[in-house]
Amino acid sequence: MENVKKVLYSAVQPTNNLTIGNYIGAISNWKQLQDDYDCFFAIANMHAITVRQNPAELRQRTLSLLALYIACGIDPEKCVLYLQSHVSAHAELCWVLNTFTYVGEMERMTQFKDKSARHTENINMGLMDYPVLMAADILLYQADCVPVGLDQRQHIEIARDIAQRFNNIYSPTFKVPEALYMKTGAKINDLQNPEKKMSKSAENPNGSVFLSDDRDAVIRKFKRAVTDSDNLIKYDPETKPGVSNLLSIYSVFSKKSISETESEFEGKGYGDLKLAVGELVADKLAPIQSEQARLLSDKTYLDEVLKRGAYLANKAAGRTVGKVYKKIGFYQL
Ligand code: TYM
Repeated sequence: MENVKKVLYSAVQPTNNLTIGNYIGAISNWKQLQDDYDCFFAIANMHAITVRQNPAELRQRTLSLLALYIACGIDPEKCVLYLQSHVSAHAELCWVLNTFTYVGEMERMTQFKDKSARHTENINMGLMDYPVLMAADILLYQADCVPVGLDQRQHIEIARDIAQRFNNIYSPTFKVPEALYMKTGAKINDLQNPEKKMSKSAENPNGSVFLSDDRDAVIRKFKRAVTDSDNLIKYDPETKPGVSNLLSIYSVFSKKSISETESEFEGKGYGDLKLAVGELVADKLAPIQSEQARLLSDKTYLDEVLKRGAYLANKAAGRTVGKVYKKIGFYQL
């Protein structure tokens, strides 16, 4: 029977500790989308090595991220959960797409510029090639839609450009993917510096709430969140970035709209808001953390999930690489 569901693709790098930004902007949405799409969710360990990693930690974080996906409600029977390095087609397609990507385009990427500034000792080719590998990820699975946070906008745009460029030179080969950003929470900001994105690698750990933080740490970080001095709880990211960020986080975790959230806190002070967000986030993280720990103790199960994922992902990705090789004139036996 012809497959009628659209294809959805996304990935997270198994680097550092994941933050509630990763959860809100990406993983929490996947759960809601998994019934409506054919989903592929990868653990992007090939992207991770563009910044130097400790091998034992990288291995550990890989399983930990897989356990997190499942603990967040992503069903490994419904979705293909796999490790990027288990599918050699990613590297193969990346190589081909490199020849359809201009150096100037890569030099202009904001993330490349940021990361090169932060890792001056290791501005490697992989760091620059990062968006092409990401394009290969998405295009291999003929994805219709890619749910990500707003920080990935430029990378999705370039993936679309590369796909269109290839399709125009040869004939339609790749589905041109659309990004999917959530209305609320596509950019969660740092609690200490609310004009900046909350990041896994932030210098000040009080600005990021990690998914592994315990209840006390979560509540303490929210209590210390930077707001402003007018004590008015209103959503206005331009003039009130700190308060708006807290309202967004509360709204996503409570599944209430921003205006319902504003009404809930009408007449209350910033202290009330900070405590309420902190407690809510801690309440929501606790069951995820304990389920993640339970899953991590069952390595046999996690390996089975990865094996199934690798099999299905290789099958889908192999079809696309085969097509591409044929079109570009690679002699086939
Ligand atoms: P990564 O690992 O940096 O982040 C994973 C996801 O979390 C989102 N995100 C945020 N969303 C809202 N607010 C924030 N503060 C925040 N911080 C991070 C990111 O947008 C992302 O969706 N390059 C990707 C991984 C990747 C990928 C792919 C994604 C590799 N191949 C193919 C989609 C499709 C990355 O580094 O994500």
